[in-house]
Amino acid sequence: MSTKGRYTITAALPYTNGPIHIGHLAGVYVPADIYSRYLRITGKDVIFICGSDEHGAAIPMRAKKEGVSPQVIIDKYHAIIKKSFEDFGISFDNYSRTSAPIHHETASEFFKKLYEDDKFIEETSEQLYDPEANQFLADRFVTGTCPKCGNEEAYGDQCENCGSSLNATDLINPKSTISGAEPITKQTKHWFLPLDQYESFLREWVLEGHKKDWKTNVYGQIKSWVDDGLRPRAVTRDLDWGIPVPVEGAEGKVLYVWFDAPIGYISSTKEWAEREGKDWEPYWKDSNTKLVHFIGKDNIVFHCIIFPSMLKAEGSYILPENVPANEFLNLEGNKLSTSKNWAVWLHEYLEEFPDKQDVLRYALTANAPETKDNDFTWKDYQARNNNELVAIFGNFINRVVVLTNKYYDGVVPTPSTFSEIDEQTLTELKAYPAVISSSIERYRFREASQELLNVARLGNKYLADEEPWKTIKTDEKRTETVMYVALQIASALATLSEPFLPFTSTKLKSILGHSGLKWEEIAIKDILLPEGHQIGKGELLFSKIEDAEIQHQLDKLEATKKANAAENKVIEPQKEATTFEDFTKLDIRIGTIIEAEKMPKAKKLLVLKVDTGINTRTIVSGIAEYFTPEEIIGKKVTVLVNLAPRKLRGVESEGMILMTENPEGKIVFLNPDEDNVNPGAIVS
Ligand code: 2FM
Ligand code: ZN
Repeated sequence: MSTKGRYTITAALPYTNGPIHIGHLAGVYVPADIYSRYLRITGKDVIFICGSDEHGAAIPMRAKKEGVSPQVIIDKYHAIIKKSFEDFGISFDNYSRTSAPIHHETASEFFKKLYEDDKFIEETSEQLYDPEANQFLADRFVTGTCPKCGNEEAYGDQCENCGSSLNATDLINPKSTISGAEPITKQTKHWFLPLDQYESFLREWVLEGHKKDWKTNVYGQIKSWVDDGLRPRAVTRDLDWGIPVPVEGAEGKVLYVWFDAPIGYISSTKEWAEREGKDWEPYWKDSNTKLVHFIGKDNIVFHCIIFPSMLKAEGSYILPENVPANEFLNLEGNKLSTSKNWAVWLHEYLEEFPDKQDVLRYALTANAPETKDNDFTWKDYQARNNNELVAIFGNFINRVVVLTNKYYDGVVPTPSTFSEIDEQTLTELKAYPAVISSSIERYRFREASQELLNVARLGNKYLADEEPWKTIKTDEKRTETVMYVALQIASALATLSEPFLPFTSTKLKSILGHSGLKWEEIAIKDILLPEGHQIGKGELLFSKIEDAEIQHQLDKLEATKKANAAENKVIEPQKEATTFEDFTKLDIRIGTIIEAEKMPKAKKLLVLKVDTGINTRTIVSGIAEYFTPEEIIGKKVTVLVNLAPRKLRGVESEGMILMTENPEGKIVFLNPDEDNVNPGAIVS
């Protein structure tokens, strides 16, 4: 048994059908990383485990769309995801993948054990079948109306609107997502985990055992599922992508992705143990180990009902100590979406802000969707950086380091007698490890991050009150004491920031020339940075983010919105038939814009002089939002020249320039595709 406390921390295995975005980070990976780093720094025996989930239905579907094999898709996204986690400082002890042989073996053995122990029901039943694609339909391969809430886009395994867990045959008006066909039913054999037999276990273990310590959003979901009545759940599928069902008579069948994926936590632990020369079993089988799953709210049923029932059925595993699932993060008011590209992608963020990992970590933590869905906005991100990290944390450290270098050549001065304020400040400082610990241990990371900032606030207030820059002229001894106290706060910050802002913590330790303390040392040690210690030169921990950088991000999102709108654009139905005679009444010519200027006090209008070949005339056009006057002078355009003249804002317009819209929603001219078409040429 481990005396110092053993923890197995897992973070949901991301599907390799797309890269990681800020919703994944805020919901799962940042809190899991803060928690794991915190446990390590407090001396616990921790493994932080993750890997890629490569068997979901979304993967062959994406492969089909891109015209490549599923293997190409998983290799591509596994590499992108793994690297972006590393570059972002997510401190996994192991990042595996479910296509790894060790996982196939582990998941197969797990299934075989339950099979041999008669834990499954084997049943041939009617399942949905796509007669066009010749494939059984389950999970994401079928949509229909949710029988519980009426959502018309529920999937065959789950309704994302009400969170219900479903069987494909529950759907009303099902439709194949492969061909759009209405499914027929066909008989097929599957293995089911009889969840109904685990009801009393689940009631006792979670509903009674964890009523007080699990988050209310998680507890509430579990209670409602159990109260609704649990039913046997198929753990195999008729698919060709996945882990083959390892028993006889199961040709062409694979394990349900939600059966194999959580076992991925175990196989990733085995991979880690093999590499490190350790034993994996205590991390999963010793009752002194605390198992904590970090997930998003859409994964609650799998981690709190199905996986624990699997573990219980197997018999030799521990159960999770907690499953602190988060709610969802939105982006600028809209739901994050991989397929709609409505996201801030981690790998792109890291390219654009290569030294700002901690800023994103902080913004996502300070605004984490812990108890309700929250919104990420670029303005909030900028404000968190400029007003909190730069103005509070960075400013305090900068003042301490600059003054220490200026007054004492970077050597920590010797304090004299501490004043009451000094004593109070140091006492307050010593209380912070316990305050922050208490928040982290209750999975309240946003609260914890604000307490961390309060440490820097304490330092700023102390400096502002004691004004060493003034006392240096009048009282050297006092100044030395004040700077000594301020340096103790800086030293505490270097350690306390490590779980939240690991890059900053490393930088700060290097500035202070100190490798950091143990968490609890801050509370019990009198000296956190000794007198006579030489610190390094100043270096800014954070830098201001300008409006232009934020605007660039907002522009990117705007372009995404327009592209999505264009993709979904309904093609306008054809207008009523017209006669050739009517058409020939329209006199359409090629013209050249020879002058252009803005119409005063009209945001949308430009006043143009157009050479139509017949004459040069004035045309007022509503294109000022799309073109500057300068860029269109000399352009060839198509003009309806016999449109009856009309006055716009007092200017007579004699014709109309013909336009269309490009996929981004920008208005564009209709130009002849030959250069030598002259003004006056008739369009017919
Ligand atoms: O929802 C998801 O993204 C899943 N890939 C999470 C799997 S978690 C675990 F069980 F593997
Ligand atoms: Zn529903």
